[in-house]
Amino acid sequence: MADLLELAVVIPTFNERANVPVLIARLTQALAGRRWEAIFVDDDSPDGTAEAARELGRVDARVRVIQRIGRRSLSSACIEGMCATAAPFVAVIDGDLQHDETLLPAMLDRLQRDEALDLVVGSRFVAGGGTGEWDRDRVAKSALATRLSRRVLKADLSDPMSGFFMIRSTVARAVVPELSAIGFKILLDIMTAAPRPLAFVEMPYTFRVRTEGESKLDHVVAMEYLIALYDRMFGRFVPVRFAMFSAIGVLGVGVHMATLSLVFLGAGASFLLAQILATVVAMTFNFFLNNALTYRDRRLKGVRALVDGWVSFCVVCSVGAVANVGVAAFLHDVRSSEWAASALVGVLIGAVWNYALSSRFVWGR
Ligand code: GDD
Ligand code: MN
Repeated sequence: MADLLELAVVIPTFNERANVPVLIARLTQALAGRRWEAIFVDDDSPDGTAEAARELGRVDARVRVIQRIGRRSLSSACIEGMCATAAPFVAVIDGDLQHDETLLPAMLDRLQRDEALDLVVGSRFVAGGGTGEWDRDRVAKSALATRLSRRVLKADLSDPMSGFFMIRSTVARAVVPELSAIGFKILLDIMTAAPRPLAFVEMPYTFRVRTEGESKLDHVVAMEYLIALYDRMFGRFVPVRFAMFSAIGVLGVGVHMATLSLVFLGAGASFLLAQILATVVAMTFNFFLNNALTYRDRRLKGVRALVDGWVSFCVVCSVGAVANVGVAAFLHDVRSSEWAASALVGVLIGAVWNYALSSRFVWGR
């Protein structure tokens, strides 16, 4: 048995160059006597993390590297790592040494011993675990995120936010098609996507202080967390992207009205001119907001791409506006008493049109 590959340790990284050799040294020590491999999944870090890992891989074939170009997501990095191994068990551990790698052999023993078990979760919130030196702000935010997760998670897991766990590879790969792969919360994603409740145990560990590099958990990650929760709860009915696109569209209406009143009432321009100006301003506002949020994973960058994208967005939306007005006018002709409903259907058709065509022609690849 001992000569068969037992464990893959998947390490998502972004700008962790200094931590790479230290982590491998620690894994080598912690997993002495076991058959394992480490898989760095790096999103083309500017600091050269992937190259640092390859350097180790040249002298130690257990160290492997997946370098992804043009992608940025912790969750999807973990997923790709989990799908890239022949090992029967796969662990996910942060690359910044904040997780306790000395727990890995016990996690592996547990899974090997108990065939009914799918998953072992490293937890900061069971007896013996801890969050180390977190400030009160981070403790409060983490507690809030954990509380929110209870709305989608039907298991009694003390630390669903944990990024440190070990799972049976077959179980992990089976749920991949169901994962939303958004943001940081890969464990929560797996637990809520699994077709049956997963059998898990938690093992305590203390979250260490980061000494090299910096955390990538920022407000965008926090927003992505909310998006992922939305996706789990309502994504089947109204897709996340469409919901964001529509919400931004509603803001755009506000921008339109504000510009209109400024130019028409304030500056005394003709209504037609004010309308045209307001439309352009609103479309521009929507274009940049959608580019930053709705399509942040396919964000257009650089002057050339932005100008091209803006022009096609304006074309798509203009046709959408014609469709909106046309449909509403037609419905109003049929039943003139239902003017509000006619207008709303027009707006809905316009929104779907704008969304469908811009996702294909503005942000499509
Ligand atoms: N490939 C890839 N792509 N890796 C990433 C990305 C990304 O976009 N963003 C972050 N990482 C890597 C980091 O390099 C690090 O190895 C690991 O993911 C965790 O990222 P940190 O930025 O250090 O996150 P954290 O310490 O603030 O958050 C940790 O603790 C949370 C619990 O409070 C993570 O383990 C979270 O998953 C966990 O929920
Ligand atoms: Mn960290």
